[in-house]
Formats: sequence, structure tokens, C-alpha cells
Amino acid sequence: MAFTFDILTLFPGYFDGVFRESLLGKAEDGGLVVLRTTQIRDFATDRHRTTDDTPFGGGAGMVMKIEPISTCLRAVREAAPGAPVVLLSPAGHLLEQARVRRWAAGPGLIVLCGRYEGFDARIEPQVDEIVSIGDYVLGGGEPAAAVIVDAVARLLPGVVGNPESVVEESHEDGLVEYPHYTKPRVFEDESVPDVLLSGNHAAIRAWRRAQAMARTRLRRPDLWALYVEVHPEVLEPPKTRRRSRRAPTGGANRHDNMNPHDITVNCGAADETD
Ligand SMILES: C[S@@+](CC[C@H](N)C(=O)[O-])C[C@H]1O[C@@H](n2cnc3c(N)ncnc32)[C@H](O)[C@@H]1O
Repeated sequence: MAFTFDILTLFPGYFDGVFRESLLGKAEDGGLVVLRTTQIRDFATDRHRTTDDTPFGGGAGMVMKIEPISTCLRAVREAAPGAPVVLLSPAGHLLEQARVRRWAAGPGLIVLCGRYEGFDARIEPQVDEIVSIGDYVLGGGEPAAAVIVDAVARLLPGVVGNPESVVEESHEDGLVEYPHYTKPRVFEDESVPDVLLSGNHAAIRAWRRAQAMARTRLRRPDLWALYVEVHPEVLEPPKTRRRSRRAPTGGANRHDNMNPHDITVNCGAADETD
């Protein structure tokens, strides 16, 4: 059965392009996903179809009224039984891959996009999860909903051509992914690491793992701290340290110099300039 995304929004037109492009468009054409938007304003009952009002207690900005979103949600929920309801807010739980994976295993997802100062807080008991896509403030929930739809859809069976490509990637094992290279072998004096051309699959696996660890430690110390808690052995010194840090194939490329056991000394020597 197709996975159904229901997006509740004041700006359904935002999704016209997003839903038609690339993977999502193909997934919808192939019957793998159903992408629906519902205009919250259609559930406002006053003459002006008002969806926002001034905040009690004063302060800047407008607040999205409870009645239209509540009625809208009830209607959408009836048509999508079993789908968790996600309210988008920068004050929500930070989105991570484990949550995306959990959603992808379900029948669908209902996503509420806020605008202005956000929703009247009395909507919160009616939702299952309150989620933020990052520690910054967007003008509205629509880009966040697009991010969620994309992240979930690519995990659904049949959406990505090669299912293996969604298994070995960033955040699946607590690390960010290793670097990738393709042709040409040399670009502006910068060579592809020799180990990747060696045909030695064990050496390639070891190099990639070391790179993933080095990148995680450098770019995401928060994830690295969790990783070493679970895998303290990665910080242990190797039993027999090699004299040289050259790659197994003898490559002299600066990208080759990673060994999983040299992680503590090598992180700063990875392909990082940022
Ligand atoms: C301008 S924001 C409201 C910000 C709110 N006053 C606050 O400070 O938490 C309007 C809407 O954009 C969406 N939004 C903004 N930043 C977001 C984020 N980081 N993650 C998810 N949704 C976000 C939410 O739906 C929010 O209701």
C-alpha cells in the first residue's frame, strides 16, 4: 500500500514543485507514495476565513487560531487512520534519522505547518510529536515539511533504485559518511586516494571507516561523544602500530593517511578544511 503524506498548510502551492521533482514525483507516479496537501484556511468558519489572531498576554506577531487547525486535523486524521501527527516547531524535538526510519515503517504521516508565531498551544494535546528540523527559525513549516517528506520517502521500498544506498550512509551507524570520489582520477592536482583504486576491499572498508570517524569527530563532536561511549575500543591504541601511516597500497595522497586506530591523531589530517 502507498505511504500517504498529509501536509496541513496555509500555503499548499509551496509544494507544487517540491512534490513533482525527482524522486518524489517518480514515487508518486509509481504509486509508492500519496502526497496530499490540505488548506487550513478552508476550515475557518468566519466571513473572512481568519486563521490567525493577536496573542493573549501581548507581544509581537500573530498566533494561528486553534479552531481551524483543530477541525482540519480531525478531518485529515479520519482519512489517514494510524498515521502519526507531527507538529513542526523550532521548539520541538530535533529530527534525527532514527525518527525518520520509524515514520517510514508506518502507514503515513500527517504534518502540521505553522506560520507567524506558530499555533495556539492548545493544539499540542492533539498531536503525537512536536519536531524541529534544526536549531534555527524558518518563516514557516513548509520547508521543514518538505525536508521530512524527502527524508521519509527515500527510505520507502522501491523509491531509491538501489536499496543499499540508504543503508550505508550518514547517521545510520552513529557516524557521518566517508567521502566519495568519481572520475576523473586527478582534478587540479588533487588525486583520488590510491586505496580506492587498489581493488583491496578490506583496505577500502578500513579506510572508509577511518574517514567516517575522523569526519564525525571533527564536524560533529556531539555525535562522536555518543559513538565513543558505545565503541570505546576506537580510542584504544593499536596493538602493533605501523611505522608509516601510508595507505595499504602505498598511496602518497593526503586522503590516504587514515587508519581507524590512528583516529585520535589523524582527525585533523583528514580532508577537512572547514
Ligand atoms: C516563525 S516560526 C515560529 C517561531 C516561534 N515563534 C518560536 O520562536 O519558536 C513559524 C513556523 O515555522 C515553522 N518552523 C520554523 N522553524 C522551524 C524549525 N526549525 N523546524 C521545524 N519547523 C519550523 C513552525 O511550523 C513554526 O510554527
